[in-house]
Amino acid sequence: MRSLYEKIKFRYDLGNSLLNDPFYKDGVQKSFLEINKFPLRFEVINYILKFLDKETNYLEIGVRYPEANFDKIISENKYSVDPGSENVLNPVDFKVTSDDFFNQLRTGIILKEGIKFDVIFIDGLHLADQVERDVINSLEFLNEDGFIVLHDCNPPTAFHASENYFYRMSPSGGNWNGTTWKAFFKFRQLNGLFSCCVDSDWGIGIISKRLNLGTPSQVKNPYFEYNLFDENRKESLNLISYEEFKTKLNTFKN
Ligand SMILES: C[S@@+](CC[C@H](N)C(=O)[O-])C[C@H]1O[C@@H](n2cnc3c(N)ncnc32)[C@H](O)[C@@H]1O
Repeated sequence: MRSLYEKIKFRYDLGNSLLNDPFYKDGVQKSFLEINKFPLRFEVINYILKFLDKETNYLEIGVRYPEANFDKIISENKYSVDPGSENVLNPVDFKVTSDDFFNQLRTGIILKEGIKFDVIFIDGLHLADQVERDVINSLEFLNEDGFIVLHDCNPPTAFHASENYFYRMSPSGGNWNGTTWKAFFKFRQLNGLFSCCVDSDWGIGIISKRLNLGTPSQVKNPYFEYNLFDENRKESLNLISYEEFKTKLNTFKN
């Protein structure tokens, strides 16, 4: 049986090996870099809303703490959806999952018949199949000149892009992009939709039905492998700076 000293030393050595682990160090460093990027998502969303230059309808899927983003959005009409998995108080308009929200919208149970949104911010459950459904449903309720904005499209390491939100000992330090990138990358390959990703705040993906924000990705990654994504990150996401995004958007001003 191990002595108390041996038990303590084992834990000390384990902690030390974790802190010196190259994957762990890389994850910590890349999280730090991402946390210190600006602008944050609300600034990009407000820029888009202002660009539209009309009375706008804004929808946020996945809100958690409204003061972090929702309250900072400047739009005449704002709607919020969240089932409340992470904040028991859940001060939102529709306390349901995004799937339920869109079903209720489709059947006319909620909101005005025929309502369309100008910007839909998808930041709910960060798993690829859910994000894909959120985008498909959003496209149905998006005005032709509207935008879909997706948070967390640019995971800095494979650990940030894990499917498991609950594993906290990860080199990601608990920062979680989930597999949102896979859904965004899937839409990046489609003709008839235009997209780019602003390189800030964990990757702010933007999709337009009408404005050419970027043509479809030609990157071949049929199995959605993270390493292949990482090697072709810029092209996979059409990753651009905020300045480049603003310049691009302004070329479409009448
Ligand atoms: C990352 S937080 C949202 C953060 C917020 N948008 C912001 O910018 O600060 C994710 C939220 O999505 C919610 N959520 C989880 N599953 C969902 C689902 N199926 N539909 C909609 N929201 C969901 C969680 O309850 C959580 O509050």
